[in-house]
Amino acid sequence: MRSKIAGIGYYVPKNVFSNQDLTKYMDTSDEWIQERTGIKERRYADRTGETTTTMGVEASAIAIERAGITPQDIDFIVFATLSPDYYFPGCGVLLQRAMKMKEIGALDVRNQCSGFVYALSVADQFIRSGMYKNILVVGSEKHSFGLDYSTGGRNISVIFGDGAGAVVLQPTEDENRGILSTHLHSDGESAEILAMYNPGTHANHWQETAYADFKNAEIGEMFMSHEMIDNAQNFPFMDGQAVFKKAVVKFPEVVGEALAANNLKPSDINMLIPHQANLRISQFVQQKLGLREDQVYNNIQKYGNTTAASIPIALCEAWEDGKIKEGDLVCLAAFGSGFTWASALLRW
Ligand SMILES: CC(C)(COP(=O)(O)OP(=O)(O)OC[C@H]1O[C@@H](n2cnc3c(N)ncnc32)[C@H](O)[C@@H]1OP(=O)(O)O)[C@@H](O)C(=O)NCCC(=O)NCCS
Repeated sequence: MRSKIAGIGYYVPKNVFSNQDLTKYMDTSDEWIQERTGIKERRYADRTGETTTTMGVEASAIAIERAGITPQDIDFIVFATLSPDYYFPGCGVLLQRAMKMKEIGALDVRNQCSGFVYALSVADQFIRSGMYKNILVVGSEKHSFGLDYSTGGRNISVIFGDGAGAVVLQPTEDENRGILSTHLHSDGESAEILAMYNPGTHANHWQETAYADFKNAEIGEMFMSHEMIDNAQNFPFMDGQAVFKKAVVKFPEVVGEALAANNLKPSDINMLIPHQANLRISQFVQQKLGLREDQVYNNIQKYGNTTAASIPIALCEAWEDGKIKEGDLVCLAAFGSGFTWASALLRW
Protein backbone atom coordinates (compact mmCIF):
# COMPACT_ATOMS: atom_id res chain seq x y z
CA MET A 1 0.00 0.00 0.00
CA ARG A 2 1.27 3.42 -1.00
CA SER A 3 -0.11 6.93 -0.75
CA LYS A 4 -0.85 9.11 -3.74
CA ILE A 5 -1.66 12.78 -4.12
CA ALA A 6 -5.36 12.65 -4.99
CA GLY A 7 -5.90 16.42 -5.03
CA ILE A 8 -3.75 19.54 -4.86
CA GLY A 9 -4.44 23.26 -4.51
CA TYR A 10 -2.72 26.53 -3.70
CA TYR A 11 -3.66 30.04 -2.72
CA VAL A 12 -1.69 33.26 -2.82
CA PRO A 13 -3.04 36.61 -1.59
CA LYS A 14 -3.97 39.33 -4.08
CA ASN A 15 -1.60 42.03 -2.76
CA VAL A 16 1.55 42.10 -4.89
CA PHE A 17 4.59 43.79 -3.32
CA SER A 18 7.42 44.46 -5.78
CA ASN A 19 11.03 45.00 -4.77
CA GLN A 20 10.51 48.65 -5.64
CA ASP A 21 7.59 48.81 -3.16
CA LEU A 22 9.94 47.66 -0.37
CA THR A 23 12.31 50.57 -0.99
CA LYS A 24 9.66 52.79 0.63
CA TYR A 25 10.37 51.14 3.99
CA MET A 26 14.07 50.21 3.91
CA ASP A 27 17.35 50.94 2.20
CA THR A 28 17.34 48.29 -0.54
CA SER A 29 17.01 48.05 -4.32
CA ASP A 30 15.35 45.93 -6.97
CA GLU A 31 18.81 45.23 -8.40
CA TRP A 32 20.25 43.93 -5.09
CA ILE A 33 17.28 41.68 -4.39
CA GLN A 34 17.08 40.21 -7.90
CA GLU A 35 20.81 39.68 -8.17
CA ARG A 36 21.16 37.87 -4.82
CA THR A 37 17.84 35.99 -4.68
CA GLY A 38 16.07 36.07 -8.06
CA ILE A 39 12.96 37.52 -6.36
CA LYS A 40 11.01 40.19 -8.28
CA GLU A 41 7.86 40.37 -6.15
CA ARG A 42 5.97 38.58 -3.40
CA ARG A 43 2.37 38.43 -2.15
CA TYR A 44 1.24 39.80 1.20
CA ALA A 45 -1.91 38.66 2.96
CA ASP A 46 -4.62 41.17 3.75
CA ARG A 47 -3.50 42.63 7.10
CA THR A 48 -6.60 41.63 9.06
CA GLY A 49 -8.78 39.74 6.58
CA GLU A 50 -6.41 36.81 6.06
CA THR A 51 -4.40 34.57 8.37
CA THR A 52 -2.15 31.55 7.94
CA THR A 53 -5.18 29.36 8.62
CA THR A 54 -7.58 31.13 6.23
CA MET A 55 -5.05 30.86 3.40
CA GLY A 56 -4.63 27.18 4.28
CA VAL A 57 -8.41 26.79 4.08
CA GLU A 58 -8.47 28.34 0.57
CA ALA A 59 -5.77 25.96 -0.70
CA SER A 60 -7.36 22.97 1.07
CA ALA A 61 -10.80 23.62 -0.43
CA ILE A 62 -9.30 23.31 -3.93
CA ALA A 63 -7.28 20.18 -3.05
CA ILE A 64 -10.32 18.51 -1.46
CA GLU A 65 -12.57 19.32 -4.42
CA ARG A 66 -9.98 18.01 -6.89
CA ALA A 67 -9.75 14.79 -4.87
CA GLY A 68 -13.49 14.40 -5.42
CA ILE A 69 -14.33 14.37 -1.71
CA THR A 70 -15.74 16.80 0.86
CA PRO A 71 -14.16 18.29 4.01
CA GLN A 72 -16.22 15.80 6.05
CA ASP A 73 -14.35 12.92 4.38
CA ILE A 74 -10.96 14.09 5.69
CA ASP A 75 -9.84 11.84 8.55
CA PHE A 76 -6.57 13.54 9.59
CA ILE A 77 -4.93 16.97 9.21
CA VAL A 78 -1.21 17.73 9.17
CA PHE A 79 -0.55 21.48 9.09
CA ALA A 80 2.98 22.83 8.60
CA THR A 81 3.76 26.48 9.41
CA LEU A 82 6.22 28.70 11.26
CA SER A 83 3.80 31.63 11.35
CA PRO A 84 0.77 30.25 13.18
CA ASP A 85 -2.33 32.34 13.95
CA TYR A 86 -1.72 31.67 17.66
CA TYR A 87 1.40 30.63 19.56
CA PHE A 88 -0.94 27.85 20.65
CA PRO A 89 -3.19 26.08 19.75
CA GLY A 90 -1.97 25.23 16.26
CA CYS A 91 -3.50 26.05 12.89
CA GLY A 92 -4.71 22.46 12.40
CA VAL A 93 -7.60 22.84 14.82
CA LEU A 94 -8.51 26.27 13.42
CA LEU A 95 -8.71 24.74 9.94
CA GLN A 96 -10.76 21.81 11.28
CA ARG A 97 -13.21 24.34 12.73
CA ALA A 98 -13.28 26.62 9.69
CA MET A 99 -13.91 23.72 7.30
CA LYS A 100 -16.52 22.12 9.57
CA MET A 101 -14.67 18.82 9.58
CA LYS A 102 -15.44 15.89 11.86
CA GLU A 103 -13.65 15.59 15.24
CA ILE A 104 -10.56 14.21 13.54
CA GLY A 105 -6.92 14.37 14.61
CA ALA A 106 -5.07 17.59 13.79
CA LEU A 107 -1.29 17.78 13.99
CA ASP A 108 0.88 20.88 13.56
CA VAL A 109 4.39 20.46 12.20
CA ARG A 110 7.10 23.00 13.10
CA ASN A 111 9.86 22.32 10.64
CA GLN A 112 10.02 25.65 8.84
CA CYS A 113 11.20 25.35 5.22
CA SER A 114 11.16 21.54 5.26
CA GLY A 115 7.80 21.52 7.07
CA PHE A 116 5.75 20.40 4.08
CA VAL A 117 8.00 17.44 3.23
CA TYR A 118 8.03 16.41 6.90
CA ALA A 119 4.23 16.73 7.00
CA LEU A 120 3.90 14.68 3.81
CA SER A 121 6.14 12.00 5.27
CA VAL A 122 4.06 11.79 8.47
CA ALA A 123 0.87 11.52 6.42
CA ASP A 124 2.46 8.90 4.15
CA GLN A 125 3.20 6.66 7.15
CA PHE A 126 -0.41 6.89 8.39
CA ILE A 127 -1.70 5.91 4.93
CA ARG A 128 0.80 3.06 4.53
CA SER A 129 -0.13 1.67 7.95
CA GLY A 130 -3.79 1.68 6.93
CA MET A 131 -4.81 4.02 9.75
CA TYR A 132 -6.30 6.81 7.59
CA LYS A 133 -7.74 7.09 4.05
CA ASN A 134 -7.99 10.83 3.37
CA ILE A 135 -5.28 12.98 4.92
CA LEU A 136 -5.09 16.72 4.34
CA VAL A 137 -1.52 18.05 4.32
CA VAL A 138 -1.21 21.84 4.42
CA GLY A 139 1.70 24.28 4.28
CA SER A 140 0.82 27.94 4.89
CA GLU A 141 2.62 31.10 5.96
CA LYS A 142 1.77 34.71 6.75
CA HIS A 143 5.31 36.05 7.06
CA SER A 144 4.36 39.65 6.34
CA PHE A 145 2.98 40.07 9.88
CA GLY A 146 6.24 39.24 11.64
CA LEU A 147 9.17 40.73 9.73
CA ASP A 148 11.36 43.75 10.42
CA TYR A 149 10.68 46.13 7.52
CA SER A 150 13.31 48.63 8.69
CA THR A 151 16.79 48.61 7.10
CA GLY A 152 18.01 46.54 10.08
CA GLY A 153 15.86 43.61 8.95
CA ARG A 154 16.33 43.91 5.18
CA ASN A 155 18.44 40.75 4.71
CA ILE A 156 15.42 38.70 5.82
CA SER A 157 12.31 40.73 5.07
CA VAL A 158 12.97 41.02 1.32
CA ILE A 159 13.09 37.23 0.95
CA PHE A 160 9.82 36.06 2.47
CA GLY A 161 6.27 36.06 1.13
CA ASP A 162 2.82 34.77 2.07
CA GLY A 163 0.79 31.90 0.62
CA ALA A 164 -0.51 28.38 1.11
CA GLY A 165 -0.58 24.98 -0.56
CA ALA A 166 -2.35 21.73 0.28
CA VAL A 167 -2.68 18.14 -0.88
CA VAL A 168 -5.04 15.28 -0.11
CA LEU A 169 -3.26 11.95 0.34
CA GLN A 170 -5.12 8.71 -0.31
CA PRO A 171 -4.07 5.07 -0.44
CA THR A 172 -3.35 3.40 -3.78
CA GLU A 173 -2.44 -0.13 -4.75
CA ASP A 174 -1.20 1.06 -8.14
CA GLU A 175 2.49 0.13 -8.17
CA ASN A 176 3.23 2.82 -10.74
CA ARG A 177 1.88 5.71 -8.72
CA GLY A 178 2.39 7.48 -5.44
CA ILE A 179 5.05 8.36 -2.89
CA LEU A 180 8.04 6.04 -3.31
CA SER A 181 10.01 7.19 -0.27
CA THR A 182 10.65 10.12 2.06
CA HIS A 183 13.90 11.08 3.80
CA LEU A 184 14.13 13.35 6.85
CA HIS A 185 17.18 14.90 8.53
CA SER A 186 18.23 17.43 11.15
CA ASP A 187 21.35 18.98 12.63
CA GLY A 188 20.59 21.15 15.65
CA GLU A 189 24.21 22.30 15.86
CA SER A 190 23.19 25.35 13.79
CA ALA A 191 19.77 25.95 15.36
CA GLU A 192 20.51 29.63 16.10
CA ILE A 193 21.73 30.50 12.58
CA LEU A 194 18.22 30.93 11.21
CA ALA A 195 15.78 31.43 14.04
CA MET A 196 13.26 33.59 15.79
CA TYR A 197 14.42 33.59 19.41
CA ASN A 198 11.70 35.68 20.99
CA PRO A 199 9.19 35.31 22.42
CA GLY A 200 10.41 32.07 23.90
CA THR A 201 11.48 30.38 27.12
CA HIS A 202 15.23 30.18 26.34
CA ALA A 203 16.25 32.97 28.80
CA ASN A 204 19.57 33.17 26.90
CA HIS A 205 20.37 29.61 27.97
CA TRP A 206 21.86 28.32 24.71
CA GLN A 207 24.43 30.92 23.68
CA GLU A 208 26.71 33.53 25.17
CA THR A 209 25.11 36.16 22.97
CA ALA A 210 22.13 37.67 24.75
CA TYR A 211 19.17 37.15 22.47
CA ALA A 212 16.93 39.33 24.58
CA ASP A 213 17.34 41.77 27.39
CA PHE A 214 15.99 40.18 30.55
CA LYS A 215 17.79 42.58 32.94
CA ASN A 216 14.70 44.03 34.51
CA ALA A 217 12.52 41.03 34.10
CA GLU A 218 10.56 39.94 37.11
CA ILE A 219 8.51 36.83 37.42
CA GLY A 220 5.97 36.64 34.61
CA GLU A 221 7.79 39.12 32.36
CA MET A 222 10.37 36.86 30.76
CA PHE A 223 8.44 35.63 27.77
CA MET A 224 7.75 39.01 26.18
CA SER A 225 9.05 42.29 27.58
CA HIS A 226 8.70 45.91 26.50
CA GLU A 227 12.48 46.10 26.09
CA MET A 228 12.44 43.15 23.73
CA ILE A 229 10.09 45.04 21.44
CA ASP A 230 11.90 48.37 21.83
CA ASN A 231 15.16 46.67 20.77
CA ALA A 232 13.59 44.81 17.81
CA GLN A 233 14.47 41.47 19.42
CA ASN A 234 11.15 39.94 18.41
CA PHE A 235 12.15 39.46 14.75
CA PRO A 236 13.81 36.50 13.01
CA PHE A 237 17.60 36.30 12.72
CA MET A 238 19.50 34.80 9.79
CA ASP A 239 23.16 34.38 8.91
CA GLY A 240 22.41 34.25 5.19
CA GLN A 241 25.84 33.13 4.02
CA ALA A 242 26.01 30.25 6.51
CA VAL A 243 22.54 29.10 5.43
CA PHE A 244 23.51 29.34 1.76
CA LYS A 245 26.68 27.27 2.24
CA LYS A 246 24.91 24.46 4.06
CA ALA A 247 21.89 24.48 1.73
CA VAL A 248 23.92 23.92 -1.44
CA VAL A 249 25.43 20.80 0.13
CA LYS A 250 22.33 19.31 1.75
CA PHE A 251 19.87 19.84 -1.14
CA PRO A 252 21.81 17.66 -3.64
CA GLU A 253 22.68 15.18 -0.89
CA VAL A 254 19.07 14.53 0.10
CA VAL A 255 17.94 14.30 -3.55
CA GLY A 256 20.74 11.79 -4.14
CA GLU A 257 19.62 9.81 -1.09
CA ALA A 258 16.05 9.56 -2.43
CA LEU A 259 17.26 8.46 -5.86
CA ALA A 260 19.67 5.87 -4.44
CA ALA A 261 16.93 4.40 -2.22
CA ASN A 262 14.89 3.71 -5.36
CA ASN A 263 17.74 2.69 -7.69
CA LEU A 264 17.24 5.79 -9.80
CA LYS A 265 19.57 8.49 -11.11
CA PRO A 266 19.22 12.28 -11.56
CA SER A 267 18.43 11.92 -15.27
CA ASP A 268 15.32 9.86 -14.32
CA ILE A 269 13.78 12.93 -12.60
CA ASN A 270 11.07 14.59 -14.70
CA MET A 271 10.61 17.46 -12.27
CA LEU A 272 12.55 18.55 -9.21
CA ILE A 273 10.58 20.90 -6.97
CA PRO A 274 13.10 22.45 -4.62
CA HIS A 275 11.88 24.51 -1.68
CA GLN A 276 12.01 28.06 -3.02
CA ALA A 277 14.70 29.46 -0.72
CA ASN A 278 16.72 31.42 -3.24
CA LEU A 279 16.95 31.13 -7.04
CA ARG A 280 20.75 30.98 -6.77
CA ILE A 281 20.51 27.95 -4.47
CA SER A 282 18.12 26.19 -6.89
CA GLN A 283 20.43 26.93 -9.84
CA PHE A 284 23.41 25.60 -7.91
CA VAL A 285 21.51 22.40 -7.05
CA GLN A 286 20.46 21.98 -10.68
CA GLN A 287 24.09 22.21 -11.83
CA LYS A 288 25.36 19.92 -9.08
CA LEU A 289 22.85 17.22 -10.08
CA GLY A 290 23.46 17.76 -13.80
CA LEU A 291 19.79 18.57 -14.47
CA ARG A 292 18.44 20.60 -17.38
CA GLU A 293 16.56 23.82 -16.64
CA ASP A 294 13.25 22.20 -17.63
CA GLN A 295 13.78 19.50 -14.97
CA VAL A 296 13.64 22.05 -12.13
CA TYR A 297 10.62 24.23 -11.27
CA ASN A 298 11.15 27.69 -9.81
CA ASN A 299 8.58 30.37 -9.01
CA ILE A 300 10.40 32.29 -6.26
CA GLN A 301 10.55 35.20 -8.73
CA LYS A 302 6.80 35.77 -8.18
CA TYR A 303 6.23 34.68 -4.60
CA GLY A 304 9.51 34.96 -2.66
CA ASN A 305 10.23 32.27 -0.07
CA THR A 306 6.92 31.06 1.36
CA THR A 307 8.63 28.51 3.66
CA ALA A 308 6.27 25.56 4.39
CA ALA A 309 4.00 26.65 1.54
CA SER A 310 6.63 26.91 -1.18
CA ILE A 311 6.75 23.26 -2.28
CA PRO A 312 2.98 22.64 -2.53
CA ILE A 313 2.50 25.99 -4.31
CA ALA A 314 5.27 25.17 -6.82
CA LEU A 315 4.08 21.57 -7.24
CA CYS A 316 0.52 22.69 -7.91
CA GLU A 317 1.54 25.46 -10.28
CA ALA A 318 3.85 23.15 -12.25
CA TRP A 319 1.06 20.58 -12.55
CA GLU A 320 -1.52 23.21 -13.58
CA ASP A 321 0.95 24.48 -16.22
CA GLY A 322 1.13 20.95 -17.68
CA LYS A 323 4.77 20.55 -16.61
CA ILE A 324 4.00 17.44 -14.55
CA LYS A 325 2.13 14.57 -16.21
CA GLU A 326 0.83 11.20 -15.09
CA GLY A 327 3.66 8.76 -14.51
CA ASP A 328 6.32 11.49 -14.13
CA LEU A 329 8.99 11.06 -11.49
CA VAL A 330 8.79 14.09 -9.19
CA CYS A 331 11.30 14.89 -6.47
CA LEU A 332 10.54 17.32 -3.64
CA ALA A 333 13.50 18.63 -1.65
CA ALA A 334 13.75 21.12 1.18
CA PHE A 335 16.29 22.68 3.51
CA GLY A 336 15.87 25.29 6.21
CA SER A 337 15.93 26.46 9.80
CA GLY A 338 16.92 23.85 12.36
CA PHE A 339 18.77 22.93 10.27
CA THR A 340 16.33 20.41 8.91
CA TRP A 341 16.24 19.00 5.40
CA ALA A 342 14.15 16.41 3.63
CA SER A 343 13.15 14.87 0.31
CA ALA A 344 10.30 12.89 -1.16
CA LEU A 345 10.25 10.98 -4.41
CA LEU A 346 6.92 10.28 -6.07
CA ARG A 347 5.39 8.95 -9.24
CA TRP A 348 2.67 11.39 -10.31
C1 LIG B 1 20.32 36.55 2.39
C2 LIG B 1 21.23 36.62 1.19
C3 LIG B 1 20.46 36.95 -0.05
C4 LIG B 1 22.24 37.73 1.46
O1 LIG B 1 23.18 37.79 0.42
P1 LIG B 1 24.72 37.86 0.79
O2 LIG B 1 25.46 37.97 -0.48
O3 LIG B 1 25.04 36.70 1.66
O4 LIG B 1 24.78 39.22 1.53
P2 LIG B 1 25.33 39.56 2.99
O5 LIG B 1 24.38 39.13 4.04
O6 LIG B 1 26.76 39.09 3.10
O7 LIG B 1 25.34 41.12 2.90
C5 LIG B 1 26.10 41.83 1.91
C6 LIG B 1 25.77 43.30 2.03
O8 LIG B 1 24.44 43.53 1.55
C7 LIG B 1 23.69 44.23 2.54
N1 LIG B 1 22.30 43.83 2.46
C8 LIG B 1 21.67 42.83 3.12
N2 LIG B 1 20.37 42.80 2.75
C9 LIG B 1 20.18 43.78 1.84
C10 LIG B 1 19.08 44.22 1.12
N3 LIG B 1 17.86 43.65 1.22
N4 LIG B 1 19.25 45.26 0.28
C11 LIG B 1 20.43 45.85 0.14
N5 LIG B 1 21.54 45.47 0.81
C12 LIG B 1 21.41 44.44 1.65
C13 LIG B 1 24.33 43.85 3.85
O9 LIG B 1 24.06 44.82 4.82
C14 LIG B 1 25.78 43.81 3.46
O10 LIG B 1 26.28 45.12 3.43
P3 LIG B 1 27.79 45.46 3.90
O11 LIG B 1 28.66 44.66 2.96
O12 LIG B 1 27.86 46.93 3.74
O13 LIG B 1 27.87 44.97 5.31
C15 LIG B 1 21.99 35.28 0.98
O14 LIG B 1 22.94 35.09 1.98
C16 LIG B 1 21.05 34.12 0.97
O15 LIG B 1 20.18 34.01 0.15
N6 LIG B 1 21.26 33.15 1.88
C17 LIG B 1 20.39 32.03 1.99
C18 LIG B 1 19.18 32.48 2.73
C19 LIG B 1 18.06 31.51 2.63
O16 LIG B 1 17.90 30.82 1.66
N7 LIG B 1 17.24 31.51 3.66
C20 LIG B 1 16.12 30.69 3.72
C21 LIG B 1 16.55 29.32 4.03
S1 LIG B 1 15.31 28.24 3.79
